[in-house]
Amino acid sequence: MVLNNTVPLLLLSILMLGVLGNAQLTSDFYSTTCPNVTVIARSLLEQASRSDVRLTAQVMRLHFHDCFVNGCDGSVLLDASLADGVEGEKEAFQNAGSLGGFEVIDEIKTALENVCPGVVSCADILAITAEISVSLAGGPSWNVLLGRRDGRTANRDDAVAALPLGPDSLDILTTKFSEHNLDTTDLVALSGAHTFGRVQCAAISNRVNNFDGINGQSDPSVEPAFLQTLRRQCPRGGSPTALVNLDPTSPDSFDNDYFKNLQNNRGVLESDQILFSSRRVSTVSLVNRFAENQSEFFRAFARSMIKMGNVKTLTGTEGEIRRDCRRVN
Ligand code: HEM
Ligand SMILES: *[C@@H]1O[C@H](CO)[C@@H](O)[C@H](O)[C@H]1NC(C)=O
Ligand SMILES: *[C@@H]1O[C@H](CO)[C@@H](O)[C@H](O)[C@H]1NC(C)=O
Repeated sequence: MVLNNTVPLLLLSILMLGVLGNAQLTSDFYSTTCPNVTVIARSLLEQASRSDVRLTAQVMRLHFHDCFVNGCDGSVLLDASLADGVEGEKEAFQNAGSLGGFEVIDEIKTALENVCPGVVSCADILAITAEISVSLAGGPSWNVLLGRRDGRTANRDDAVAALPLGPDSLDILTTKFSEHNLDTTDLVALSGAHTFGRVQCAAISNRVNNFDGINGQSDPSVEPAFLQTLRRQCPRGGSPTALVNLDPTSPDSFDNDYFKNLQNNRGVLESDQILFSSRRVSTVSLVNRFAENQSEFFRAFARSMIKMGNVKTLTGTEGEIRRDCRRVN
């Protein structure tokens, strides 16, 4: 039989693929090796967020900024290190002075190293804490897929190139998402993460005070009363680090008010409002659907988070399980 030789070979190559990293993530990955991983992460995050209501938003953003650069490999957590040849993504201008939540990730990592040393990757901690953050803030829960391994490198230039910017056009936003196999539905659903958290005046001052480089001009898509509010919060010549709520209606809860705000031209970033104001049918109709039906948004959001969590993961024997999320082993 001709097949006799080819079948074992085929089986072997399928097995090799698994070992070499095309392994699938699974929701029960730590069920025998670290069964309490979620319980531990949840209790530490819940405790820390009690004294800092913004923490859940900061932590969930880390997973996004991790997955968009080098894939979901914990690269965003690495401190710059000449000795290890690691460029810090933290210094990319989208991240510098902007990302937060590293301390609670360290705390969770330390607790996990105590109960199951060398088992849970930092990349997985980000995926787990993103879900916990959303659910603590009143949003959906989902089964987090696990089994990612940590990368040994970071890439600052890639962070600068890949992470979206407030003034990006809808075409650029769509392209930046599609480079990670994320489609228009993912773009709109995931942008709904701006239902909580803060933005610094630096990121919106051009939009409200200096649009298109013209002094005193504002983005015409901002609703006039809301423009006055934003200008009060971020006056010309004011502090660039002053904070503004991304969702003026319900700043700390994870709900679909973000989409209702867009319908009222009260999106804070250009990249938010453009989903509704560009009149591109596909994004406008998604905004309307999510604004009308919160369950629909929650379902789409959970689905897109799982998709984003699958971006270029390291699995099997690739990468490593970092002992300290800030440096390679
Ligand atoms: C669509 C393109 C996106 C752009 C242009 C964008 C841009 C920004 C900017 C400029 C800030 C404020 C940063 C600062 O002022 O320090 C911010 C905050 C935030 N972003 Fe996005 N973002 C986008 C998509 C996303 C996605 C997909 C997620 C998560 C799934 C996300 C989650 C967050 C969260 C939670 C905050 C608040 C963080 C805090 O309070 O510290 N963003 N984003
Ligand atoms: C998991 O946590 C529970 C409750 O905190 C504890 O009773 C149990 O011993 C823990 N299991 C492991 C394997 O650490
Ligand atoms: C809202 O969306 C959910 C989930 O997709 C669906 O089951 C439900 O029927 C929708 N409700 C309305 C009023 O359309």
